[in-house]
Formats: sequence, C-alpha cells, structure tokens
Amino acid sequence: IILMRNCYMQMITQMLATDLDGTLVGDEKHLKDLLTYYEGLQKKVTLVYVTGRHRESALELIKEANIPMPSILISDVGTGIYIGNDLKPDEEWNLLMKKNWNPEAIKKIASHYPTIVPQKLPDESRISYTAQEDEGSVEKLKQELLQANIPHKFIFSSGRDIDILPEASGKGSALTYVIEKYVEDQASILIAGDSGNDEEMIRLGYPSVIVANAQPELIAIQDHPQLFRATKNCAGGIHEAWLHFYDN
Ligand code: GLC
Ligand code: MG
Repeated sequence: IILMRNCYMQMITQMLATDLDGTLVGDEKHLKDLLTYYEGLQKKVTLVYVTGRHRESALELIKEANIPMPSILISDVGTGIYIGNDLKPDEEWNLLMKKNWNPEAIKKIASHYPTIVPQKLPDESRISYTAQEDEGSVEKLKQELLQANIPHKFIFSSGRDIDILPEASGKGSALTYVIEKYVEDQASILIAGDSGNDEEMIRLGYPSVIVANAQPELIAIQDHPQLFRATKNCAGGIHEAWLHFYDN
C-alpha cells in the first residue's frame, strides 16, 4: 500500500509507544521519574499512547494521571488513530482497517453467551465484552466465531476483557501503520505493555519491554532478540528498558 504523505508533523526520530493502564500509568513515583528523565534529554522523545480505551476515556485518564498529551493516540485496542495536538482522526486508517468488518454477525453469535456481557462503547469499530469468570464460554465463543468464518481478531486479556476487532486492526497493525507513515527509518523506538492486548505490538520485533507487573498471558509470550523483561513495575520498567536500549 502507498500511504498518503504525512503532513501533520515532522517525522518522528525517537518514540515511546506505550500502553497506558498498568504500563505508563500505575506507579506515580516511577512515572514522575520517567517524565523527568525524558524532559532532561536533548532529543525529544515523541509519545505515542496505545490503549484499549476509547478516545474520551483515554483523555480522561491523561488528565487524571497528569501525563503529557501524546503526539499520536492509538485508541480502542488499535482501531482508532488520532494525530497531532488536536488529535485528528487518521481517516486513511479508518478506511483501511474497516475492510471486511461485520459487527452485526459477531454480535449475533456472542449473544448466545449469557456470561459474556457487552461493553458500552461509543461506536462499533470494535466489539468488546466483559467475561464474568467463565473462561469456558470465552473459548467456545472464540471457536464459534472461527467456524463461522467471520473475519476478525479475537483478543482476551486480563482474564476479563474480550475485544473483537476488524482483521486489519489491533495494536500491532495500528502501530505498524503509524511507524510506516510517521516515523523515520532509523528512529529509536521503544514499545511497552503489560497485558494480552499488547502482545501483537510487543511481538513486532522492535525494542520492546514487558513491565514486571504484567499479566500472565503477556509474560508467557516467546522471547525475541529485542524483547526486554523489566524488573520494575509500570513506568519504572519503561525507564529501565529505555536505558537498556538507548543510554550509552
Ligand atoms: C480497556 C478498555 C476496554 C478493553 C480493555 C482490553 O480496559 O476500556 O474496552 O476491552 O482495555 O483491551
Ligand atoms: Mg494495560
């Protein structure tokens, strides 16, 4: 695919692409130390937030946790991409990722499972559920969707959240799109996460960190040469990994 020229911002040369809940946010002291460290660097590190939350919910958390606004926000488990100070939706991405998306068919099948409760979301560019302590049903739903041949991505994380996404979306696919369109080839990149919905982006092969407080499903993923397993929680783990990869 040929991407439209990026006309919103200079190409990124240093980037932290991080999940929010349980990764950047979750340990105030470590978070403060990390932000102070980044402020002291000569070259600016561009912040890209990659969250399961929808746009408004992410903005609430940004305010609540008092963290900087990102240059790019990837929301809704990698279905929304927002760019620049005014967080304008990347319309090209919207078109690309919605291919084959059939939320009605998915909702119909999921309605067979009483312990799998729909989340309230502002739109249907993804369909998410909360599983009520019933992993048997989660597995059955997953199988039923596969058998029905409905294009989608199925992500179960934190023993609770089910995200059903358009096939071309997800945190890994969205971040790949962002890197191709907005990031320089030789850029310093760090990707950080703590749970199952981060797996896709952690596995892309870029310098990545799994924070020490991560969920079992993320800790269980295979190593790759650029994967760092932190000994510290949340932002402390990000800080540790940034120093590991880029402080020389
Ligand atoms: C966040 C979102 C929720 C999603 C979960 C896992 O908690 O608010 O909608 O299901 O992340 O991705
Ligand atoms: Mg998280």
